[in-house]
Amino acid sequence: MERNRTCMEVATSGFIETGNIMIIPLFEGLSKSPNNATTGLGRSASIAVKSAISSEACSGEIGDSLRIWTKNCQIILLGLGKQKDLTTKISRDNGAKCFASLSKKHGTEIVIRFTTGWKVDMMAAFTEGFILRDYTFEKYQNKDKEDKGPWSLICQTIDRYQKDLNKEVIKSSSIATGVHLARDLGNEPANRLYPEEFGKRALEWAKGKKNVEVEVWDYERLRKEGMYALIEVGKGSIHKPCMVFFRLNPDKETDSEVPCIVGKGITFDSGGISIKGSAGMDEMKLDMHGSATVFGLFQALYATGHKGRINGITCMAENMPSAEAYRPGDVIDTYSGKTIEVLNTDAEGRNVLADGLWKAGELNPSYIIDLATLTGSIVVALGHEATGLFSNNQSLSQKIKKIGDEVDEISWPMPMLPAFEKQMTSSKIADVRNQGKGRWGGASQAAGFLKQFIQKRENSEGENTQIPWAHLDIAGTAGIWGGENNATVGHGATGVQVRLLHCLITQN
Ligand code: BES
Ligand code: MN
Ligand code: ZN
Repeated sequence: MERNRTCMEVATSGFIETGNIMIIPLFEGLSKSPNNATTGLGRSASIAVKSAISSEACSGEIGDSLRIWTKNCQIILLGLGKQKDLTTKISRDNGAKCFASLSKKHGTEIVIRFTTGWKVDMMAAFTEGFILRDYTFEKYQNKDKEDKGPWSLICQTIDRYQKDLNKEVIKSSSIATGVHLARDLGNEPANRLYPEEFGKRALEWAKGKKNVEVEVWDYERLRKEGMYALIEVGKGSIHKPCMVFFRLNPDKETDSEVPCIVGKGITFDSGGISIKGSAGMDEMKLDMHGSATVFGLFQALYATGHKGRINGITCMAENMPSAEAYRPGDVIDTYSGKTIEVLNTDAEGRNVLADGLWKAGELNPSYIIDLATLTGSIVVALGHEATGLFSNNQSLSQKIKKIGDEVDEISWPMPMLPAFEKQMTSSKIADVRNQGKGRWGGASQAAGFLKQFIQKRENSEGENTQIPWAHLDIAGTAGIWGGENNATVGHGATGVQVRLLHCLITQN
């Protein structure tokens, strides 16, 4: 597996060195210092740690932490609650919170000492919390920071677990390079990252990687192909739209069906002529997080050495009002041949996805998954806790739900009700309309619209059915803004769904 400089150095060992910062996560109900807790510490430090652990001050209750200062090493005794109540989520979140509380003033060598009661999956999750939280986006700040170098991390456990734990943490840090790349892209301001720039970065990323291919369809190509839904959304901006194709292992299993992942890539969503209010409009630089997740996913798959073939498509455009912008009332052509009546230029994500999804249907997909910061309505329904999951296929939906629970990128199943599809197909002058008949069920309306652009094909029973498809509405989960909370992300883009999709794709 390839390592990336965007991730801290992680290793596994027995209980040897202490580092500059030593974390000992402890369970509730411990009466004396567990084996190995003080190995390698000097006599007085060792006594201090032992007395602290057996004192009442160290309860092991979740969130409780006790710091002991010795000359060479800061020791943190971290309560994780009752061992029987520990879950991977609790473990990961507490690892992340612990990491966020550290300062490089005391050195950059971290040791996590997993003493008694730890299983590999829980240790791996705790460590993953550190890795995921080790992210900042500071490239546009000039403030002088004393460069103390990157963090390094050693996970200590008994011999029997070392090999398995090491495998898990290397995998986590490889996947995290994709999560962090997705966050970088999501955090970029819209004047720095516009459609062509996204395409350029994708091409640069592919350079020198033998099993990776990126292709960018520019404005001219989009016109030749008849991708007018993408064109219409993006034509009001000086930054012209494009479509970016990602291919991993393009020469493998070329006859078989492989997944296709599609991302909404609106580098800025002003609303267009149906312009948004100014409060919070800055957040709409994040309206390309679907495309950021696709890009990050390909990095994660590449970094973990995934051997299968995968396709990705991102639909890039900037939604701006101008003399050349598309308008409410316009009827636009799409790649599918179906026409769309534009009732609101701010419902632009579904338009660009119409072309991306139809194109995905041409790539012989085993299934199609799209990711989009699509509706404010899903944020009303699920807040920032879960991604909205819509699907035309129960087994695909169940798989996504299950993995989301496991990796803690919760994706909550929402119904695909025929009534919403009916609203979206009831235009008086076109095949579909891009806005429903009222504000209720806005996320379901959007999903009902997207479904019109999933191609049908003959299944093994000879029936003409739609390709299995799932739509992930990440409007509520793509970003963390002031006041909101998330253990593994400090601020801004979250890189959401990179880990879920990586797991879904690699587990088959
Ligand atoms: N990008 C927005 C959705 C969004 C809202 C993302 C909040 C992240 C946070 C999308 O393009 C949009 O404007 N949707 C409209 C659709 C409506 C005009 C039918 C919405 O949800 O209000
Ligand atoms: Mn919009
Ligand atoms: Zn949008």
